[in-house]
Amino acid sequence: MKKKYLNFIRGVSINKTGKAGMVLATSSFAIMIFLELLRVTGVLTSALVGLFTYLLFPTLFVVGLVLIPIGWMKYKKTTGKTTKELIEKQFSKDELAQSEVGSALVRTLLIFTFINLIFLSVASMRMLNYMEEPVFCGTACHSVMSPEWATYQVSPHSRVKCVDCHVGEGIGALVDSKINGTWQMISVTFDLLERPIPTPVHQLRPARETCEKCHWPEKFYGSKIKSIVHYDSDETSTPKYTTLVLKVDAGEEVGKAGIHWHIDDANEVRYASIDDERKEMLWVEVKQDDGSFKRFTNRKHTDIEYAFDDERKMDCVDCHNRATHIYENPREAVDKRIRKGLIDHELPYIKREALGAITSGFTTHDVADEIIKNHLISFYRDNYPNLLGTKSKSIDKAIETLQNVYNTNIHFGMNVDWGVYPNFLGHKNGSGCFRCHNNDLVDEVGTPIKNDCTMCHSILANDSPQPFTYLKDATNENRDSVMHEYLKDEFLEYSL
Ligand code: HEC
Ligand code: HEC
Ligand code: HEC
Ligand code: HEC
Ligand code: HEC
Repeated sequence: MKKKYLNFIRGVSINKTGKAGMVLATSSFAIMIFLELLRVTGVLTSALVGLFTYLLFPTLFVVGLVLIPIGWMKYKKTTGKTTKELIEKQFSKDELAQSEVGSALVRTLLIFTFINLIFLSVASMRMLNYMEEPVFCGTACHSVMSPEWATYQVSPHSRVKCVDCHVGEGIGALVDSKINGTWQMISVTFDLLERPIPTPVHQLRPARETCEKCHWPEKFYGSKIKSIVHYDSDETSTPKYTTLVLKVDAGEEVGKAGIHWHIDDANEVRYASIDDERKEMLWVEVKQDDGSFKRFTNRKHTDIEYAFDDERKMDCVDCHNRATHIYENPREAVDKRIRKGLIDHELPYIKREALGAITSGFTTHDVADEIIKNHLISFYRDNYPNLLGTKSKSIDKAIETLQNVYNTNIHFGMNVDWGVYPNFLGHKNGSGCFRCHNNDLVDEVGTPIKNDCTMCHSILANDSPQPFTYLKDATNENRDSVMHEYLKDEFLEYSL
């Protein structure tokens, strides 16, 4: 650096306070540049490093800069000198010689201010960008977001940024989210946070701006075959198939209104629920052709006064509340892994034992890992000792898979256990679709919201030994044509 600038630095740091400020400012500047290099080159990746680089050190830098004038003020107070006298004391005649405005001192001051401003704006831009990275949202607060981070990474949306669903567009939403985020930081620091984090999330960005950017309602047409398999608890873990033709159509053409009817532009459903939890409805309204709304009232709750403020217009998240943070239920989690082949179907009693292993109730993840392992090993050692030799690979794989299932779904620090976050997509235990499609929500003449079993799906097989009962006499050769014959207009495409 030129001597001129060094003189300037020495000149402005007039006393201990000023010097401390200067050291703080320059060293945090240097450290931040260094950390940024390590981040850009990928040497350091932790979310904490980002916080240090873009928040901690720039803050220290500003504190340093502020200390310098504080130093001057203190010095003025103690010595009783005027600013002019001090300037003359600190800087050479040379620097002060020329006319006031054009003086070398003012120019140096401007250069430094300019550099500082650039530096601070770059740091804050980087900070804002960085705070939008899923790895930041997911890991900066340690265990707090661990359930959401774990489920996010294995979800169909693992490439969609958290902020794309959680933070609205525009400066207002940005400010809102930062205020909210600051509150979250405070509540994490002082442990004021509710565990598990309560749902529904009221600040979620409207589906129109998020989900519908990538999935638009007109895209939903026809039907979709879904084949679900559950394994029994017997020795062979007998598979039982349920096959549904899900009518996912959005349109109403030729009377084929399907599941996405709710989100078609022409339709609107709104509702109010007890405690705003969206679990038990007070009333549901549906828009009529003339623009008026027809109301269905819950006859179980006619005595509850409802606040009109809490009404909500139905959108994607009312059904897809677990679009990304998909917590499984243990039974289905095991079924899915067996079907995928991650758990060997040939291991005797594997369904029963796997389920037992992951639902025994543990206190830490280390204990869980250990007990899951012991559970399977001791079961096979006691009952099928030779399998420990012949099927050892399968057993190890099953253990690893189950530990994984457990660690993705269960988060002790946040009190997230099996079933804490229900999924509204189906109608298990009267939840999901049956929150509205039930016999208690009735219009003024007592007619309930439609709910017959074939409105949303045809059932091709229900807990049957084959996925398609009607195919039981079909051969491999004529399978497809039998299928087409059976399903005819039901849908256009299918895959098994
Ligand atoms: C595709 C959209 C989407 C993405 C991407 C997404 N979320 Fe969510 N998030 C949701 C929805 C929908 C809910 C549930 C809202 C409800 O039940 O009211 C939710 C709920 C949550 C909750 C409340 C607790 C819970 O588990 O339901 C937290 C915390 C959360 N998300 C954090 C995150 C974090 C952190 C990321 C990124 C790592 C992220 N989200 C990415 C859509 C998304
Ligand atoms: C940035 C684009 C994007 C946004 C925003 C988005 N999605 Fe998706 N979504 C995708 C993609 C891509 C897939 C397909 C992933 C795949 O096939 O593995 C997908 C898949 C899905 C699936 C099918 C999942 C499955 O198991 O096959 C559902 C349901 C879904 N999204 C619902 C939603 C909902 C609800 C929202 C809003 C909360 C949303 N999406 C927001 C891009 C997006
Ligand atoms: C009334 C409840 C409901 C609403 C509202 C709803 N969906 Fe769905 N959606 C479903 C069901 C049920 C399925 C079929 C689930 C399955 O395949 O397991 C589905 C399937 C999907 C799929 C997968 C389709 C495929 O062909 O595999 C996507 C993507 C999707 N929905 C996105 C959305 C988006 C985006 C919105 C909002 C614009 C929305 N859904 C609104 C219930 C709903
Ligand atoms: C918030 C309440 C609510 C929820 C939750 C809800 N629906 Fe609906 N749905 C309605 C209302 C209201 C109608 C209009 C029914 C009527 O006019 O009788 C409707 C209509 C439908 C229709 C069209 C019926 C027709 O032939 O016109 C289908 C299909 C449907 N819903 C499927 C589903 C599925 C599947 C789910 C769950 C994934 C679901 N709904 C969840 C309120 C809801
Ligand atoms: C309002 C729409 C709707 C109505 C009415 C409805 N279902 Fe369903 N049903 C669904 C949806 C959505 C799923 C979930 C599909 C999925 O897993 O994604 C489902 C899933 C199922 C399953 C599979 C459950 C599993 O995981 O093994 C069965 C069986 C079933 N329904 C039977 C019925 C019967 C019987 C009735 C009549 C009492 C009925 N459904 C009425 C929408 C409906």
